[in-house]
Amino acid sequence: MSALDNTNTFEPVIIGFTCNWCSYRAADLAGTSRIKYPPNVRLIRVMCSGRIDPTFVLKALSDGADGVMIAGCHPGECHYLEQNYKALRRHRLLQKTLAQFGIEPARVRLTWASAAEGALFAQEIATMVDEVKQLGPLNWPARPVPVGSVPAEIPVLSEVGA
Ligand code: FES
Repeated sequence: MSALDNTNTFEPVIIGFTCNWCSYRAADLAGTSRIKYPPNVRLIRVMCSGRIDPTFVLKALSDGADGVMIAGCHPGECHYLEQNYKALRRHRLLQKTLAQFGIEPARVRLTWASAAEGALFAQEIATMVDEVKQLGPLNWPARPVPVGSVPAEIPVLSEVGA
């Protein structure tokens, strides 16, 4: 079944890291304003987008998420001065790194939302869910083989004529 065939039935799991001061409040505003957005996203509140270590994103993906959203205050409005610029740099690096492993960069999305932008935040979530549905489930590469063990499917050198 191709990824396109999955779009009708596949419901991606999206982990959304939101900063306490803006994007989490935007999500809250969307909720209190009864703005509908897909229920695929699980929000995790952190104090600032600069707190989001790239390993958080990799752990979410390796533990079963199909995509990760990083949401923070608009550039210039971070409550910890310039930490969202750090998030921006980390996001770019993450996308490049994931692409090296064959993982679509669209699976990690960075967005800005102020506390007053509930509708915008809801729209960002809806857009990301649609995009990840088109990509299909993330089949995270298998865990590395422990040192010292040889998996049966890897031929020994003599079998491949080396
Ligand atoms: S406090 Fe929101 S991004 Fe830093």
